[in-house]
Parts: sequence; structure tokens; C-alpha cells
Amino acid sequence: MDFKLEVAKKISEQVDMELEKVLDLIEIPPQSNMGDYAFPCFQLAKIMRKPPHMIAKELAEKFVGDNILEKAEAAGGYLNFFINKAEYMKYTINDVLEKGMNYGKQAGNEDKTVLVEFSSPNIAKPFHVGHMFNTVIGSAIEKVFRHLGYNTQRLNHIGDYGTQFGKLISAYKRWGNEEVINKDPINELLKIYVRFHEEAEKDSSLEKEGRMYFRQLEDNDSEAVAIWQKFKDLSLREFKELYRVLNIEFDSYNGESFYSDKMPEIIEMLYAKELLVESEGARIVDLSEFNLPPCLVIKSDGATIYVTRDLAAALYRKRAYDFYKNIYVVGGTQALHFKQVFSIMKLLGYDWADDCVHVGTALVKFADKKLSTRKGDVIFAKDVIEEAEEKTLEVIESKNPNLANKELVAKQVGIGAIIYTFLKNSRVRDVVFSWEESLSFEGESGPYVQYSYVRGNSILNKAGDYNKDPDLSVLTSEDEFNLVKLLGSIDDVLREAAERFEPFVVTRYATDLAKAYNKFYNSHHILNAEEKVKDARLALTRAVCVVLKISLGILGMETPESM
Ligand code: ARG
Repeated sequence: MDFKLEVAKKISEQVDMELEKVLDLIEIPPQSNMGDYAFPCFQLAKIMRKPPHMIAKELAEKFVGDNILEKAEAAGGYLNFFINKAEYMKYTINDVLEKGMNYGKQAGNEDKTVLVEFSSPNIAKPFHVGHMFNTVIGSAIEKVFRHLGYNTQRLNHIGDYGTQFGKLISAYKRWGNEEVINKDPINELLKIYVRFHEEAEKDSSLEKEGRMYFRQLEDNDSEAVAIWQKFKDLSLREFKELYRVLNIEFDSYNGESFYSDKMPEIIEMLYAKELLVESEGARIVDLSEFNLPPCLVIKSDGATIYVTRDLAAALYRKRAYDFYKNIYVVGGTQALHFKQVFSIMKLLGYDWADDCVHVGTALVKFADKKLSTRKGDVIFAKDVIEEAEEKTLEVIESKNPNLANKELVAKQVGIGAIIYTFLKNSRVRDVVFSWEESLSFEGESGPYVQYSYVRGNSILNKAGDYNKDPDLSVLTSEDEFNLVKLLGSIDDVLREAAERFEPFVVTRYATDLAKAYNKFYNSHHILNAEEKVKDARLALTRAVCVVLKISLGILGMETPESM
């Protein structure tokens, strides 16, 4: 049962306002003595032409309590609702325990397809922490939508096409050493790519050569294609290894090259609608009606670009998936690019362009270094992961040297610590990474939340067999009620996270739940309580563990059994 919905129903029965609207207005009061839900009457005041406090008073008088909502009180312009605590606790705990990992799953969205594109690294370029940040955010966003019952697809729009591959082919033919490259592909390919740029500064014929190889690639020349395919295979091998470590999977790896043969159709459409304007030999689309700068679509040498492939990709996705939402989780610096792409689709008459969303991500900073792929001073995701595992192992060695499966736990906790750090704040805020903060077992950190789960889990293990039908009416303390209220708010949390495309809403929720559980644990006996109370508190503990596991799972974090 959705208690908030019950409140909304009660209100909309009495007044002339749609249920949806009422639901939207309902707030959670800042203090528990102000009730569990509050309805502000200010908007009604405008409709009913009465002061808000009078409306609140009248509604409170008409209110009849039941086993869901005990009472309603007017307080200024607000109508405060108090839920029937005992019923609420019983209902919510049983709901979690019955549904298990499906708790909070919504029905009714299954025929809406939500595409979430994320990660999208460029082949032959390092997968740096910035990509990892983006990957972790995108994956969490997809999981939020999945838990809300949408039919989701995880897309990786690999950067595997463009003039730079002509340069790389040239560099490879000049200085590539197969054996060295096979050992450490991305590093070595990056090295020869950097060398290409250095030498091209001295010898301008290199640029020409690069362009020639790209042309060969576009013309399907078998040698050029084979070399490019090798870059791609080697790079994907490395990327997939990282995804494996992070437990990340994709439904599609269709990258830019996949759309290269789908560009002519889009270009034809643009010509047919007379949207392509000539400008110094190149072809651009005027976007002044959207208040955007013109968008280059075809270069003066006839070559297509990144934008051209994104136009083709958007149309392909609509046709292939008939999406409800097409979400691009991509660095915030590409905001203009996506505005231009979506606007051009609108000019082509595709109103579904409004269902395309660019979800921007910020940067990851270490100390005072900004990450860039240009010079080669990048921080590789795999190095960060390795360091996290090592450092976590050290912590475990000192705190709990006899722990079984130390390596596995170090991996779960180390990676969890990074993920938590990435998902702790809004995705538009730069992450300033510090090991000390990430790996702390206290405060707002991944290890802290995981440890709270472990704590609950170990109590359950100690308890062994449990009463399947405990009397939950013995849970009467404020700490217990607060905990259950958190369990019951998962729907709201997921909805907010989805609406804002913000996984941190879930991170904050998991942290609040962990904190509330620790507070409960520190001030109440569980195993030592008298039988009936023990049974009820164990049921509550089981429910908390389930919901912690669900929320950490959405974030992409594992839950170790012990640590
Ligand atoms: N490969 C690009 C990069 O690393 C990101 C691709 C974003 N996706 C897209 N559909 N354009 O910058």
C-alpha cells in the first residue's frame, strides 16, 4: 500500500483537485510531531477563494480516521496527517519480507522502453576515471528505471569511428610493434598516437597520410578495415575486463561505426527539407530559431563527423526500440552537441526528439589534477580500482585479520567505496577524490553502509531460525518507527531519482537507512530482548537488510556477508 497515495485520495475526495496534483503537493513534514504527511492548502486557496488556514481547518474537521490514517490536524495553511503507526509498521515490514528483492518494484511501465546510453569510451584511448564516473552513474540510472518497472536497454555508444583512426592507422603502419601492442594495447596505441601528433608538427605530410587512411577506411579498404578492427578488438577486450570487475553489462555495443552506413539517409532527409546550408564549402544546419549556434554536419572535404553519426543513431534507436525515453549519460561538456542533435531531429519533424535527454556528468579530480586525454597524463580507471583493492586489504588486515575471503571482501568494499564516492553527490558536481574519505568506515562512505548491512546480517546469522509470523505490534519506539518509515519511502526515492536522473537520491537513502539502523541497534536490544520483542526486531532487521541490499544493488555496490 502506498500511504502517500491514501492520503492523496482522502484529500481529493473532498476538494476539487486532481489526484495527481494532490499527490504532487504532499510533503513530508520536517518534524515528526507535525505528522507524517502534510498537504499545503495554498494552491487550493486560489481555486476556492478562501484563506489556506480556513481550508485546512475545514478539511481537518471533516476527516474521519481509519486503520491507515489515524488523524488529521490543521496547522496554519497546512493539513497534517498522522498515519496509524501500528498498522503502517506491520504492513510495511511484511511487504518487504514478502517481496524480498522485488520490494519497491512498480508495475504498469513494462511496455515503456527506456534507453540508457552510458560509458561510451573511445577505442585506443585509455578508460580513465572520468569514464568510470560516467559508467557508474549511467548504470545506476538504468537500474533505477528498471526497478520502476520500465523495459530498459543499456547502450554503449563506443567511439570507434572518425578521422583520428586514419592517423592511428598511419602511426601503426609506421611504428606499430605487434608484440608490444598485444601486451598492453591501449597504452601502446596511445603512445604511437601521441608520437603521430608530435611528428606531424614537424612533417605536415603526416596529416595528409592520416586523411588518406581514413578515406580508405570509409571506402572499406580491406587492409585499413583489418587494422581498425584490430584496434577495436584489443580495446574492447580491455574495456570488457573493466566492466567485468565493475559488474557492468550492456545490451548493445553499437558504436559510432555502426551508424556510418546509416548517415546517407539522414543527410538526404536534411537536403530534402532544405536544412543544409553551404558555408565555406561545409554543410551546416541553421539553428537560430532554437537560439543555438549553427551545427556543422558535413565538413568541406565531404567527411561526416560525430554529430552526423548521432543524428543517424537517434533515428535508428527510435525505429529499433520505439523508445519512451532515450537517455544519453555523457559528460556535461557535450551539452551543446546534444541540444543541436535534438533540435535538428525536431527540424526534421520528429517530435520524439523531446523524449531524448542529455544527462550530463561532471569531472573527477584527484588532488589538483584535472583529467584530460590529450597529453597522456590521465588516471586510468584500472589503476584506481587496483589501488582501492590494495588499500582496503590493508584496512582489513589491520581491523579484522582473521576474516575469511579477504581478497573478495577487499574487492567488494574497495570498489564499493569508489562507487559510493562517485554517487554521493549530484552528478553535475565535480568529484574531488580522496582515498581517506572514500575508504573511511565511518561517516558517509561506502564501507559504512556496507558495514551496516554486515552488522544486520551477522545478527540474523547469530539468531538462526526465526519466527515466520512475529507480532509486530510490539515495535513501538520512535527509532523503530523512523526506520520503518524509511523502508516505506523507497517508491518516492526511486521516483525522485528517476525524475532528476540523480542516483545520489538513492545513495542518500541507503545512507539514511544505515544510520537509522545503527541508531536503533545502539539503543535497543535485539538478540537479548524478550522473545516476542526479539522476534519482531529480527523481522525488522531482515527487512532493513533486504532494502539495503536493493539500494546498494541499484548503485552497483555489492553487499559482503562479513567484513
Ligand atoms: N565517445 C564519446 C567521448 O568519449 C562519448 C559518446 C557519447 N555518446 C554519443 N551518443 N555521442 O567523448
